[in-house]
Amino acid sequence: VIDIRKLYSQTDMFTYDPGFMSTAACESAITYIDGDKGELLYRGYPIEQLAVNCSFLDICYLILNGELPNSAQKEEFDQTVTHHTMVNEQMHFFLRGFRRDAHPMAVLTGLVGALSAFYHDSTDITNPEHRHISAIRLIAKMPTLVAMAYKYSLGQPYIYPQNNLSYTGNFLRMMFGTPCEEYKVNDVVERALDRIFILHADHEQNASTSTVRLCGSSGTDPFAAIAAGVACLWGPAHGGANEACLKMLEDLQANGGIEKVGEFMEKVKDKNSGVRLMGFGHRVYKNYDPRAKLMQETCKEVLESLGLQDDPLFKLAMEVERIALEDPYFVERKLYPNVDFYSGIVQRAIGIPTSLFTAIFALARTVGWIAQWNEMLSDPDYKIGRPRQLYTGYSAREVGTIDTRK
Ligand code: ACO
Repeated sequence: VIDIRKLYSQTDMFTYDPGFMSTAACESAITYIDGDKGELLYRGYPIEQLAVNCSFLDICYLILNGELPNSAQKEEFDQTVTHHTMVNEQMHFFLRGFRRDAHPMAVLTGLVGALSAFYHDSTDITNPEHRHISAIRLIAKMPTLVAMAYKYSLGQPYIYPQNNLSYTGNFLRMMFGTPCEEYKVNDVVERALDRIFILHADHEQNASTSTVRLCGSSGTDPFAAIAAGVACLWGPAHGGANEACLKMLEDLQANGGIEKVGEFMEKVKDKNSGVRLMGFGHRVYKNYDPRAKLMQETCKEVLESLGLQDDPLFKLAMEVERIALEDPYFVERKLYPNVDFYSGIVQRAIGIPTSLFTAIFALARTVGWIAQWNEMLSDPDYKIGRPRQLYTGYSAREVGTIDTRK
């Protein structure tokens, strides 16, 4: 491994690596991915074990603190997060400035950034306690903000957090409850959504996390840095793929369904068509994304428990995967389903609208973003991120008078 800091200071060299295909921008002890093996570890623990043994808040604790909580720590952490789920009432006025049909990611980018205007008691990013309280506030308030954005889009009253529910149960109630009747949390749905949160919690230096680090490296406010992460996540090549993937499956279903999968796959392979198989492929995984495996299992469980075992989109997705895993185009390029391939089907079955999928991803990834931001700021040697460029423009030239211009 070349330590570029030493190399640069000694020789004035720099690397040209578009898309950061082989450049590490930081050291990190949070998440490990072995793309060839299809392995994902949070703080050393395999995702498969975490997904079945822990709650999302346990994972938040682990990602933030480096260890899983014991029962006393778990109780305290869960209570602390619950205590911070409310948002300032002024946020409702801010939300009202948006069109009701605005994309939830547009609204969420604004709302998360706006949080920076409310917390003047924790603005010293050099102080670990201030950083910790910002992390807790973000994790606690994201579900409230996402649910508020959803209720606003429907023109329905906001449902305030209810502190005796779990993190995920509370979110479901804020999303689907009404002020007129009691909301009963469905255990299977709660577990499935909690698992979606766990699987999306962190993924080392992906585009949005790198954005948060770069933005945060200037010393900016944490809420502003996380808003930058939300904005980056929105794109269809990143977190927006879950929305794009479900739309792709719905289009396919509306235009011939399972009979037409073969034809559709030919289109995907034709580079001139401009069509990509959404929810497939990954920069790091060159094997099956372990999150996609877990998501596929969850998908089966949820559909069965809700009586939707014949869901045509799930059948379609399975057929797409079957064909892809046997087709040399996908095999040679090592293109496998990623986490987004099945997550949309689960969310749709739960009743979450497609346009909200990426906001759910943002809610879950907030812990990863803020932990990575905190890790960067805890490093006494951290520097402002400042990539170099290969300049391809003119060399210096004269301005001249206006009559000399073409
Ligand atoms: N469908 C069809 N072909 C694909 C796909 C796909 N989904 N993904 C990659 N390829 C092909 C490319 O055309 C390229 O082929 P070539 O070598 O003949 O030129 C080759 O596979 C390598 O692809 P790149 O785009 O160079 O790979 P990169 O690492 O830059 O991109 C990415 C990774 C963006 C995820 C890509 O696979 C993609 O666009 N996937 C679809 C979108 C998606 O699902 N994104 C979610 C990623 S996971 C996440 O962010 C949560």
